[in-house]
Amino acid sequence: MEKMERRNETTTPEFILLGFGDLQELQFLLFVVFLIIYIATMAGNILIVILVVTDPHLHTPMYFFLANLSCLESCYCSTIIPRMLVSFLTGNNHVSVNGCIVQLWVFGFLIASECYLLTAMSYDRYLAICKPLHYSVLMNFKVCLQLISGSFFGSFVINLILLLFVLQLHFCGHSVIDHFFCDFIPIANVACSDAHQIKLLSVLLTSICTLPPFSITITSYGCIIIAILGIPSTTGRQKAFSTCSSHLIVVTIFYGTLIIVYILPDSNGLRELKKLFSVFYTILTPLINPLIYSLRNNEVKVALRKAASKCAACKHVD
Ligand SMILES: *[C@@H]1O[C@H](CO)[C@@H](O)[C@H](O)[C@H]1NC(C)=O
Repeated sequence: MEKMERRNETTTPEFILLGFGDLQELQFLLFVVFLIIYIATMAGNILIVILVVTDPHLHTPMYFFLANLSCLESCYCSTIIPRMLVSFLTGNNHVSVNGCIVQLWVFGFLIASECYLLTAMSYDRYLAICKPLHYSVLMNFKVCLQLISGSFFGSFVINLILLLFVLQLHFCGHSVIDHFFCDFIPIANVACSDAHQIKLLSVLLTSICTLPPFSITITSYGCIIIAILGIPSTTGRQKAFSTCSSHLIVVTIFYGTLIIVYILPDSNGLRELKKLFSVFYTILTPLINPLIYSLRNNEVKVALRKAASKCAACKHVD
């Protein structure tokens, strides 16, 4: 009898991800919508990486930041959307515990890196606009490389700590997770072992990833806006202001939803809302960022036109 129980417990526990509810009629529609979003996200981000890597005019710190951001975003939406697409199509929403933990870790690593990278980018813009005379001294390739690798390293360490705690959790049987990907709190909620400490730890660690970056980013953009308001020409001012405010809006949505989802206490009333807010930073941010940061930019438009005419020339030769 005891043997049976033990075996039962060790027969591969599994997670069932509920996704967006189980309305059968909706699954195909959701599949189409998310497929389009995924293709658009990948196309936008990969285009930026290719442009920056191939066009020497774009070999500046700002574009290195943008290309790294695009790389990161195409990776992290790939950790989530393809799996969702498969389960929309096949109705199979079972995930192994190990698979879930891998998704959790990769996603956590990428999103925390993004938090730091966005901060570094806002600092770069702050230097370019508010300290233009010192820009080339303060922001050279070495500093740029240090900021980028620092972002990845910091995020790696934080997520490694979290992972060590997640691996201590004990899961039994089939647990139903009411979410569309393996996120930290939903997983901790279905553990058989006590997950109280680890939830506190996750609040602490996500605070480290979001609150200081958010404050620095807001401050940088605040200084930039003040500087822009001092520009005498109205057309230049308007353009700079619109660029800057759109950046400010997307970073606020990004950090704001992260803070709501990971730092506000976990209560039943907020659960549905948190699931909805997760869509913002997992799916909408990677879709919108290339448009807001790069594709509206004149230098990028020029590079795009050049690349397009090169392609056309190639075809002529063929
Ligand atoms: C990311 O940043 C590094 C350091 O500046 C740069 O060398 C690299 O080309 C960037 N990555 C991409 C994909 O552009």
